[in-house]
Parts: sequence; structure tokens; C-alpha cells
Amino acid sequence: MPHKIPPTGQAPSPDIPRRTIDYVRALSACVDAKGDYFPGHSDAVGYLVTLYATELDVQEPLLSELHVAAMLHDTGKIRVADSILLAPRSLTDDEWKIMRQHSVWSSEITASIGGLEHLVSWVRHHHEHWDGSGYPDGLKGEEIPWQSRLLLIADAFHVMTAHRPYRRAMTRVEALTVLHNCSGKQFDPGFIDNALARPPVVTQRESMSDAVQVSSRRRRLA
Ligand SMILES: [Fe+2]
Repeated sequence: MPHKIPPTGQAPSPDIPRRTIDYVRALSACVDAKGDYFPGHSDAVGYLVTLYATELDVQEPLLSELHVAAMLHDTGKIRVADSILLAPRSLTDDEWKIMRQHSVWSSEITASIGGLEHLVSWVRHHHEHWDGSGYPDGLKGEEIPWQSRLLLIADAFHVMTAHRPYRRAMTRVEALTVLHNCSGKQFDPGFIDNALARPPVVTQRESMSDAVQVSSRRRRLA
């Protein structure tokens, strides 16, 4: 039985104009270029989150809005100093406090873009954990917008399977095992069941990039 998206009680959102999508894509490319992850990370998370959402019977315009929220989720990192963002070591407690502010800053950037007000909470809460141990507000369970819970899974999967200078990329199976082990703690267990049931077939940088391009061509975000 697939995990269903709970009703939000909100009216369907209006379509996002192409000009806004182009602006958001440029903004996310600027943040990705800061070097925290490789170029295209935000778009790849957008691809993954829409893949998961499609399996949950989510329809347009929500699919496109999820992709846009994914492109915005880490834009607040533009305010994080490179000495913290790119630090080749563990962060200090004070540095972590700054780093954890990025989701708030991302939501403020989202709020500043006309027509995306309904995405603000999705972006703000993309690091909240199912058990309440996340940030910035320590929300737990279904207090967390389902869109944020799905973004967290897509973001985590892509980070784990990305090549980093200091570690090899996890395989798809290894990453899915981590997701499974953290189900009910960090991640929504219902969504993890779904992710495990239909894992994405691409994990490497080149193939992920190809997949994003194909996904973009198929959908109106192109
Ligand atoms: Fe983030």
C-alpha cells in the first residue's frame, strides 16, 4: 500500500511563471558554484524529489513546485562564509550554529520571490527530523510539512551518492541502507518505504546530470 500524501487543506497553487523558474535556477546555480556540492546538486535534488512524489501520486502543479523548492532549499548558504562552508575539518559549535541558519535564510530568500510564498515553510523545514532532532524549529512527525520531509530524503540520498574530495560516493544500495536505518528517526518511515520500493536508478555525477536533463525536457521546467 503506497504511502499517500496527507491533504494540506490548501487550495491548489497557481502555476509558477517561467521567468520565476529561470530566476530560481540561476540563483541555485550560484549557490551550487560556491562549492559545497558539485554543480547541479539542487536541480538533482529536484529531480529526485519529483521522482519520489510521482510515486506518491502527486500531480502538477505540485510536482513543479517541489522541484522549485528543491532548487531553493540551500540558497541560504550564500550567506555562509566559505571558511565554514568549505572547511576541510569538523565545524566548531559556533560554526554549526551559523551553518544551521541556512535553512532559515533559504526560506527568507524564497519569501522574497513573488508568487512562491507557499513554498517558504517547505524550504525552512527541510532539515527537520521525524523524531524532532532536526532544525531550525525542532518540529517532529507530521508537524513537518510533507514536502520538507520528502526534500530531506532526496537531499540526503544525493549527498550520500555524490563524489566528495574526502570520501568516495556511496553506492545506491549503501545509501538506501542508511535511509532505511534512519527511518523513523531522521526520516518519515512511510516515505522511506516508498523510496526503498522504487529507488532512483541514477547515482553518479554524469548519469544524474543526464537524468536531470531528461527530466527537465519531459517537464515544463525545461
Ligand atoms: Fe540544507
